[in-house]
Amino acid sequence: MSQPDVMDKLVSLCKRRGFIFQSSEIYGGTGSVWDYGPLGVELKKNIKDRWWNAMVRSRDDIEGLDAAILMHPRTWEASGHVAGFVDPLVDCKTCKGRFRADKLEDARCPQKPSKQPGQHDACALTEARQFNLMFKTHMGALEESASVVYLRPETAQGIFVNFLNVQQSMRQKVPFGIAQIGKAFRNEITPGNFIFRTREFEQMEMQFFVEPGTDMEWFEQWKALRMQWHLDLGLSRERLEFHQHSAGELAHYARAAFDVQFDFGGTLGFQEIEGVHNRGDFDLTQHQQFSSKKLEYFDQVNNKRYVPYVIETSVGADRVTLAALVNAYREEAVEGEAEGRVVLGLNPAIAPIKAAIFPLTKKDGQPEMARKIVEDLRGAFPVDYDETGSIGKRYRRQDEVGTPFCITVDGQSTGDNTVTVRDRDSLAQDRIDAGQLKAYLAGKLLG
Ligand code: GAP
Repeated sequence: MSQPDVMDKLVSLCKRRGFIFQSSEIYGGTGSVWDYGPLGVELKKNIKDRWWNAMVRSRDDIEGLDAAILMHPRTWEASGHVAGFVDPLVDCKTCKGRFRADKLEDARCPQKPSKQPGQHDACALTEARQFNLMFKTHMGALEESASVVYLRPETAQGIFVNFLNVQQSMRQKVPFGIAQIGKAFRNEITPGNFIFRTREFEQMEMQFFVEPGTDMEWFEQWKALRMQWHLDLGLSRERLEFHQHSAGELAHYARAAFDVQFDFGGTLGFQEIEGVHNRGDFDLTQHQQFSSKKLEYFDQVNNKRYVPYVIETSVGADRVTLAALVNAYREEAVEGEAEGRVVLGLNPAIAPIKAAIFPLTKKDGQPEMARKIVEDLRGAFPVDYDETGSIGKRYRRQDEVGTPFCITVDGQSTGDNTVTVRDRDSLAQDRIDAGQLKAYLAGKLLG
């Protein structure tokens, strides 16, 4: 076990401090579906915005897209999901548990957790049967087989079917990419580990269309760029590694694949947070066949037509949010204090609250001055005002949600217009002019 297991503590912190709640909790909860609370939605949005900026806004060779969740059912025949997006499932007739037949070694018998399903005398496992992970629903008033539609299990197919729409409307030339962020749904047999594997989740996917023959070069470039993105997000280098898919692991569409893995600690350890895949021309060729519409690119310079190959980068927004939380969580002693502190050492750029403003006391004009600072900063940064409890307690509350700066208005402040700014990590305190706060914070947060 390389890193400590902080998952139970995080689940409790996330609920207590408004990051993540069990979905439909008052009804007993919905299995492996989670709701993001006020701080969680900010954290996840900051991560998605960072991805969008890196992938779309800062490049002129990638366009954004927001395709619909419900797609023509033929899409999923073409993509291979109707026939092949299956896991082998076994039931236990005794305990009614359901397990993935190919992952029994990772599961525990509910009646005897020291054993895996099938190993306890009372276990009565059925034969394995193939279980399709797509959620089915019906479009229109009639629930008949002709009206079946699926909730998309990946966002990628919305990009493939729009390849020519985007290329032609935006006059893009190969190589170029299309990126989108959106919900995906999988009826996972064994979801779990908080927001790590859920049935409803968000993906951030980018398909980069390249000329066949140049694909492996682009594949290597995207591998390196995506690893750097995770490092820039603040994930520790020692917690990140690549895992190359062996021939047996490769998905039906992939010519080559690497996962970016993150060490979640405890027994979960290193797990995939992003996949970088060379999908070849599998998807465009399949959609050509199933739709009878050409999905070729015409290279005017060289006067040739071809179906581009695709390099895909596919990352889960929820999984990266969990990685950022696990990576940031720490408990530490505080000099001169009996109680330690819990800190979310998030990269300030993704912290849900950038600064908290406290009046030291509730008198002498301090609350008024603190509230004015809140109003001045609010347009530029998400900020919080807190006047309850001792200053130490207020610091601890902000440390626990990852707020990088705490600004205190004290007795001196109302006289000379200066305040103290405390740094979450170093605990150093700077005294600065209140009029300089916006520039000071901008320098620290963007620098
Ligand atoms: N289009 C390719 C694709 O969907 P994938 O490896 O199945 O590839 C990509 O999924 C990413 O989506 C994963 O690396 C993970 O971050 C996220 N993901 C997949 N299934 C998930 C689930 N059940 N819950 C949360 N995130 C999931």
